[in-house]
Amino acid sequence: MGLGSDVSGFYRLSQEERIKLLADFLDVKREEVPLPSPPPPLPLENSIGYFPVNLAVANYFLIDGRDYFIPMATEEPSVVAAASHGAKIARAGGGFRTGTGEQLMLSQVVITDAKRDLDVAQFVDIASRIAQSEMPSVVAAGGGFRGLDAERKGKYLVIRIWIDPADSMGANTLDRVAEALAPLFEEATGGKALLKILSNRVTRRLAWAEVEVPAEAVGGSDVAARIAEASDFAMLDEDRAVTHNKGIMNGVIALALATGNDTRALEAAAHSYAAKTGRYTPLSTWKFDGSKLSGKIELPVPVGVVGGSLKSNETAAFCLRLLRISRASELGRIMAAVGLAQNLAALMALVTEGIQKGHMRLAARTIAMAAGAEGTLVDLVANELIKTGQVRVDVAKRILESLKERK
Ligand code: MEV
Repeated sequence: MGLGSDVSGFYRLSQEERIKLLADFLDVKREEVPLPSPPPPLPLENSIGYFPVNLAVANYFLIDGRDYFIPMATEEPSVVAAASHGAKIARAGGGFRTGTGEQLMLSQVVITDAKRDLDVAQFVDIASRIAQSEMPSVVAAGGGFRGLDAERKGKYLVIRIWIDPADSMGANTLDRVAEALAPLFEEATGGKALLKILSNRVTRRLAWAEVEVPAEAVGGSDVAARIAEASDFAMLDEDRAVTHNKGIMNGVIALALATGNDTRALEAAAHSYAAKTGRYTPLSTWKFDGSKLSGKIELPVPVGVVGGSLKSNETAAFCLRLLRISRASELGRIMAAVGLAQNLAALMALVTEGIQKGHMRLAARTIAMAAGAEGTLVDLVANELIKTGQVRVDVAKRILESLKERK
């Protein structure tokens, strides 16, 4: 067709026009493009639809004595089942205890060619006034400007602005404040602002969760000891630590996506926090004292319950309602508990039957349902599928028919 992607004004086309243009680009009919016509939930530039990801709820979560259904948006089938499994085990020990400390995010103004260092004490009041005036809703919610410091890094002068973004994630606020303060710092130092942006390294907005369960809850002392050993090994070995943390983030990110949060900011913050000592380490640790298995996690939680895409995303707003929370710090605490539950279930599977068997069971159930199995037939078909070693819809359909005939 000779049609390329250099379409000027693409963003001005209607969604349907964009889809037709893509169909032409691929030289196929509109009907062959599996994009639904209804407008997407968020009016994003160049939108052509939305990408379906399952939204599910994990259950059994008892966090600080309160019961939760955890909304999780994820494409990985085992994540929700694993989170529920971890939470069920944690429940045997009274559930998760969680907490947070200060909730500070960092913005940077990077100055080049500074003639003078910044006398922080002299400028903190005026900087605070300017910053506060840039974020009235954050200030009204109890957050705001919390401090300033400056440091020379080679030829750069880095000015750090600390902000409590209250119940928002804070990215927009932090960027706005950095931009508003940059002229003041330029004038004070005689230099030029190169960058004015938040840092995704989050060291002062952390949440923790811990749990203690009797060894029987994980299948006995042997399993509990092996979980603790797997945790020790992750501390020793960076290859393993990254995978250990990836498992934690399976849960954290699914909850973040369901609640309309910036998943990339969480990933960036979590992995940089894991490497805070200069060596990459696991975000959670497990210990076994001979009768009780105890686990603890601490991670950065740059998340919000207001602002960002939340205004226009009704599903995310519902997910927050389901959690019955109104503070960002509460979401952070729940995230820590979900990460720990996810990690417990993964380690338990890994040190016993391995991860594949569970995945296979879940895949078999999904295929059984896709073949039309319902109720008790789902497990019956899934078990037969696993026995045959051929987890396919056509095989599931045959098994389902023969089971129905036998009834
Ligand atoms: C898979 O998505 C996550 C795991 O690899 C996590 C882990 O190994 O701890 C199972």
